[in-house]
Amino acid sequence: MRLLLAPMEGLLDDVLRAALTASGGYDYVVTEFARVSGTLLPERFFRRIAPELDRASRTADGTPVRVQLLGSDPACMADNVARLARLQPAGVDLNFGCPAPTVNRHRGGAVLLDEPELLHRIAHAVRRALPAEVPLTAKMRLGVTDTGRALECAAALAAGGAGALVVHARTKADGYRPPAHWEWVARIADAVDVPVVANGEVWTVADWQRCRTVSGVADVMLGRGAVADPFLAQRIRAGRVEQPGAAERALEWAALLPLLAGFRDRLRLKVEARHAPGRIKQWLHLLARSYPQAQSLFAAIRGLRTMAEVEAVLCAHGVPPAATAAPAPSGAGNTVDAPLPTLLHAA
Ligand SMILES: Cc1cc2nc3c(=O)[nH]c(=O)nc-3n(C[C@H](O)[C@H](O)[C@H](O)COP(=O)(O)O)c2cc1C
Repeated sequence: MRLLLAPMEGLLDDVLRAALTASGGYDYVVTEFARVSGTLLPERFFRRIAPELDRASRTADGTPVRVQLLGSDPACMADNVARLARLQPAGVDLNFGCPAPTVNRHRGGAVLLDEPELLHRIAHAVRRALPAEVPLTAKMRLGVTDTGRALECAAALAAGGAGALVVHARTKADGYRPPAHWEWVARIADAVDVPVVANGEVWTVADWQRCRTVSGVADVMLGRGAVADPFLAQRIRAGRVEQPGAAERALEWAALLPLLAGFRDRLRLKVEARHAPGRIKQWLHLLARSYPQAQSLFAAIRGLRTMAEVEAVLCAHGVPPAATAAPAPSGAGNTVDAPLPTLLHAA
């Protein structure tokens, strides 16, 4: 069975990928999407989305990083993937799931699920332009407004050359509203002859078990659940179904503090100071689903605007202070070489 870490635009960049993969647990991770629309993107664009390309397409702990592309023009997608291939990505993923209106308006993401023939042409063109040894996957939702063409879309992508499909088991119209319709993953897996990965609404080990049972597939991609509970992948691998109690959560939180410090330090290298507090709040907001300690920390910083203020509160809550004064962001966005504390399982 494989566990994958989902692409999450605006949330899961190289900085958070490094934190969440710090002690392994994932077979591979997927970057946020690189949007392809009419031009040949420079190599630096791919490097910005996937700084790990400069580290053999691996996170600091060695987890392979696959790069996601989003677009609708088969020829342009092919040209871009050929350029990306020069950077030797660990794999390429195609995005047919993004529900964002700004993306969909330009014929990108989930809206293409109304055009299975186009999906086929995109997958085919990209597969042909990509060296055979580089895996190609596609990530799809169940449809735009309904599931009527889900099987057709999956078959089109598989026939086009996607070597595996990740199915986010909701339509675009469903947005992120629970439930995820894992039974549709089973129907798709029956209909295609490539491996299918289930995705959507896996927050606990029990969810993961139910998802596998209902979908009948072995491989699962974790999204928000992995960000909310950085120990989830390890608990799944250990087969620990019961949710951790308060004492274990407290131990886990203690192990997360140096990780939060590493996250803060890497953010300061990468993003402008005015954006860093928002990124820290964003992660804490999700962590608050699992950790009462994160709830109180989030409540304490939610109204703060500057990094200096946030830093002070983080320190007061036990996050180790930064070793040095904040350096200016490099602008290159490449933070993969900064050292990172390992996330040890506290239990
Ligand atoms: C903030 C956010 C950003 C996302 N960005 C992407 C993206 O760039 N590419 C993509 O294929 N899916 C994206 N997704 C969808 C996730 O990869 C995943 O399919 C979805 O969150 C369902 O899984 P979950 O319920 O486990 O979170 C995003 C989801 C969220 C919440």
